[in-house]
Amino acid sequence: MAISESKKTNPLTNLLKPLLKKAPAEPKLALLEAMQEGKVVGDKEWQKSGKEHSWLHFTRHSPFSKGDMNIIVRGEGHYIYDSKGNQLIDGLSGLFTCNAGHGRPELAAAAQKQMLELDFMPLWSYGHPRAIELAEKLLSIGPEGMNRIFFTTGGTEGVESAWKIAKQYFKMTGKPQKHKVISRMTAYHGTSHGALSITGIPAFKQMFEPLVPSAFRVPNTNYYRAPHEFANEDEFGIWAANRLEEAILFEGPDTVAAFFVEPIQNAGGCFTAPKAYFKRIREICTKYDVILVADETITGYGRTGEWFGSIRYDIQPDMMITAKAITSGAQPLGALFLKEKFFEPFKDGTSTLAHGYTFGGHPVACAVALANLEIFEKENLIDRARTNSPIFRKTLEKLYDLPIVGDVRGDGYFFAVEIVKDKKTKETLSRAESEKLLRGFLNNALLEAGIYCRADDRGDPVIQLAPPLTCGPKEFDQIEAILRKVLIEAWKRLNS
Ligand SMILES: Cc1ncc(COP(=O)(O)O)c(C=O)c1O
Repeated sequence: MAISESKKTNPLTNLLKPLLKKAPAEPKLALLEAMQEGKVVGDKEWQKSGKEHSWLHFTRHSPFSKGDMNIIVRGEGHYIYDSKGNQLIDGLSGLFTCNAGHGRPELAAAAQKQMLELDFMPLWSYGHPRAIELAEKLLSIGPEGMNRIFFTTGGTEGVESAWKIAKQYFKMTGKPQKHKVISRMTAYHGTSHGALSITGIPAFKQMFEPLVPSAFRVPNTNYYRAPHEFANEDEFGIWAANRLEEAILFEGPDTVAAFFVEPIQNAGGCFTAPKAYFKRIREICTKYDVILVADETITGYGRTGEWFGSIRYDIQPDMMITAKAITSGAQPLGALFLKEKFFEPFKDGTSTLAHGYTFGGHPVACAVALANLEIFEKENLIDRARTNSPIFRKTLEKLYDLPIVGDVRGDGYFFAVEIVKDKKTKETLSRAESEKLLRGFLNNALLEAGIYCRADDRGDPVIQLAPPLTCGPKEFDQIEAILRKVLIEAWKRLNS
C-alpha cells in the first residue's frame, strides 16, 4: 500500500483527530509571564502559582482551595520570614537541619568558592578533594571504630545504602541468607521503597504496598506509654531491648542482617532511651552478628549535645546514617559512616558495590559541610547545646501546669510536648479530636503566634521542638510563652 493511501485511510488517525482538538490548552504560567515582563511579583502571584502548579511534600492540599499556603521567603539567625512579612522563630531548625541557624555568610562563601573551583564531579570512579577532606573530618568527630564514609544526598539514601551494603556484605562473607532488617514501631526512616519498608508507620506505607519484603518491627522506647509498670526506666529499657532478641530468634538469626535504631526516635514524639537499652541492644547485635545501624539523620551534628547521639548514649554502632545538619541545611548531603569490616570484601579483585547517586558527595555540598563544621567548632555549638539543654527542658516543663500537657520529653535541643485529654489517665485524643485540634487549629495557631514547629500525630499527638543550637534561654522563654498561649486555647477548643 502506498504511503499516501495509508494516511488517507488510517482509522486510528481519524479516531485521534477529534481527541486532539479537545486536548486541554497549555496551562497559563502567569507567574513566569509576569517575571518575563519584568513585573514585580510577590505573595499574591506566588500563592496563585503555588496552588496551581506546585506539589508540596507530605502536605494536604485541600485547605489551599480556601486559605493560603505558607510561603517562607527569608531566613536569618534563628528566625524565618513569610511572604506576608511575619517573623517566626524557627522552632524546628527547618526540618532538624539548620543547626547553625539561617543565612550564614561563611556557608555562602564556601559554596561560591567551590563552585568556581570545581562545580561538579560525581564520586563515580573519581574522587574530589572536598569529599576526601570531609570524610576524614567526619571520622575525626564520629564514634570510635568508623573508618569509611559513603556519601549520599540525604537520610533516605543513607538508610537505603546501609541496607544494601549490609546485604552484599553478608553475601560476600559466607552468610548469604542474612538479608532481613528490624526497626522499631512508629520509626520514620525515609520514603524510598527500601527505607519505607524499614519505616514503622503503617499509614505512610499502605498506599505503596507491596514494599520490600523482610522488614520487621519491635517496640520502641515510649516510656510514657510503657505497656505495663516497670521499677524504673532502665528496667523498661532492658525489656524493650529484649524484644529485639525475641524478633531475631523468631526470624532466625541466620536471616537477620541489621537493626536500625535512632538515638532519639523522632516519629511518635522524641522517645529517648536509657543507656541500659543501648548497652543491651549492642550485646544482642554482637551475639547474633546483626549489624547495629544508628540512624542519626536527625540526631547527628549536635542535636543531642554531643556530635552524635551514638557518642552521647554510647551506642557503639557498626554503621551510622547522618544527613540534614551536616551542612546546616544549606546544601543537600548525607554521610553514611561505616566500620572498615564492611569495606574489606570490596578491597580486592573485581568486587564492586553497584550503588550510588549522581549528587551524593557533591563538591559544593562537601565544601559547605566543611565550613559548617568549622562554625560548630568556632562557636562551641555542641557545648552550648549540652549546657543549655537542662534550661530548655526546665522552661518547657513549666507547661506541666496546663491540663493538656501530659509529657515533656527529649534531650539536647530536641523535645516533644505530648497533648492529652486527661493528665491522670494519660487518655489521648481520638482520631477525630486529633484531626480537629492538630490540623484544624494547632498548626496554624502556632504559626500565627510566631513559631514554626510541628504538631504531629504519627503516634500520639505531640508538638515537636528542635530549634537551632544558636538559640539560648531568651528564645526558650519565647517558645514557652507562645506554646502556653496556644495550648490554653487548644484546651478550650478540646472541651467546647
Ligand atoms: C531518622 C530519619 N531517617 C531518615 C529520614 C529521611 O531523610 P531524608 O528526608 O533526608 O531522606 C529522616 C527524615 O526526617 C529521619 O528522621
